[in-house]
Amino acid sequence: MDPIIVLLISIIVVIFAWFYVRRRGPKLPPGPYPFPIIGNILQLGRNPHQSLADLSKTHGPLMSLKLGSIYTVVVSSPELAKLFLQEHDQVFSGRTISAAAEAHEHDKYSMALMPAGERWKKARRLCREHMFSARQLEAGAGLRREKLQKLLDYVRECSVNGRAVNLGEVAFVTSLNLLTVTLFSVDFTEFDSDATQQLKETIEGVTKVLGAPNVADFFPFLKRWDPQGIKRRSELHFGKLLAILRGIINERLESRSVQRKNDLLDTLLDVMEGSEYDLSFKEIQHVLLDLFLGGSDSTQSTVEWAMTELLAKPEKMSKAKNELRSVVGENNQVEESDVSSSRLPYLGAVIKETLRLHPPGPLLIPRRADREVEIGGYMIPQNAQIFVNVWAIGRDSSIWPNATSFEPERFLDSKIELKGQDFELIPFGSGRRMCPGLALADRMLHLMLGSLLHNFDWKMEGGVRPDTQEEFGLALHKALPLKAIPLYCF
Ligand code: HEM
Repeated sequence: MDPIIVLLISIIVVIFAWFYVRRRGPKLPPGPYPFPIIGNILQLGRNPHQSLADLSKTHGPLMSLKLGSIYTVVVSSPELAKLFLQEHDQVFSGRTISAAAEAHEHDKYSMALMPAGERWKKARRLCREHMFSARQLEAGAGLRREKLQKLLDYVRECSVNGRAVNLGEVAFVTSLNLLTVTLFSVDFTEFDSDATQQLKETIEGVTKVLGAPNVADFFPFLKRWDPQGIKRRSELHFGKLLAILRGIINERLESRSVQRKNDLLDTLLDVMEGSEYDLSFKEIQHVLLDLFLGGSDSTQSTVEWAMTELLAKPEKMSKAKNELRSVVGENNQVEESDVSSSRLPYLGAVIKETLRLHPPGPLLIPRRADREVEIGGYMIPQNAQIFVNVWAIGRDSSIWPNATSFEPERFLDSKIELKGQDFELIPFGSGRRMCPGLALADRMLHLMLGSLLHNFDWKMEGGVRPDTQEEFGLALHKALPLKAIPLYCF
């Protein structure tokens, strides 16, 4: 027989065999039909977590989409979240890297983005031992109390002048102050100052570029042209923040031979100068940047959402205030010891309920499949981007009665914790890449929210109801800022 015909027959046989094997093997998860080239990009809309929650009602809790050339899997049930984040934790411990995150090589040095290898383990261990351990957190309690007093002084001044407080803004400044005194004993920001405004704009700039939809992320071959200029803007904002951190580190390198502060920064510099972990100046800069970015936006948005929900439901606000009055006492301030000894169960329930309805990371930080794996009878391809839609899980009416209603009481007799083991409530993620800042975030949230409620009564500016429109970004913010008037209590 003609060799060309033999070759053609062989090719046809191989193609048929390949299709036959594929059809018999596990299939890809179902999902909406993708358009040519763009796939399902247009279906994401302005609030992807909401659009994906709607789509998963039709296509199921394990759904797949094509976002340009990126194959994406969306997980929207606690059972599947457990399979992805706990049972197959190792396979899904990689991150999907956006073009914006590559500015100043942040993706290579960032603890939140680097592959879960030895360097990542080293960074996590340092933070666990020298920042988030119970002993370290206790040591920073006094400094945090001072920063909280600044918040109270500022709000008291507004109440005396009958001025509305922008709650997102004060929560941002306070979160940043609580973080910076914990990280490097520096008071970074003042309320209403130009420097604060500049810092806020720089951090917002970074979070905006990191959260912005970028066509180069959907079609990676476009990265080199940066068609929307997002990478360029990212370089600019990251550059400014890194320069601020460089200044702080250099100042400390000079001053610490005379006086040590024994905070996380001193510890990181000890490590850099010693040989135990082999840590570079650049790594220290990016680890600090991570903690800064990871901690400020998320904590701010949680405080603002909690106040929004409580202002919309005054009876819940009264319950929280009554608990504070009876546990803390009229003339005392909320202390971290009140938080660590769980003496404020209703306040704790308010925080859980806020994180259920308004998780700052509604899709977590996107994971990536390091290899092909079969889950629930479906094949998850290598390099697939994984979104865990914790926003959808938090509003699933088959899990939560009156799912969209703010009812902290649901957590009072419940054993559900935020520690990544109860998959119906995982705003801090789960598994090896779970948020390392949970213990600090818990203290900061109780302190800020507890103090704002304990020391002041609140009413909406203009007597309007607070709106609950969302704006998707690096953290899920309110679309419109919450402004309320504080009435001085004591
Ligand atoms: C309300 C407060 C916070 C929330 C809701 C939150 C949520 C999250 C989530 C969802 C992740 C991804 C987890 C995953 O992929 O499974 C994460 C990671 C991370 N968070 Fe938080 N976070 C908060 C506060 C903080 C604070 C205060 C810090 C530090 C000061 C922090 C530092 C980090 C870091 C460094 C990572 C990356 C961890 C890694 O990839 O290994 N976060 N956080």
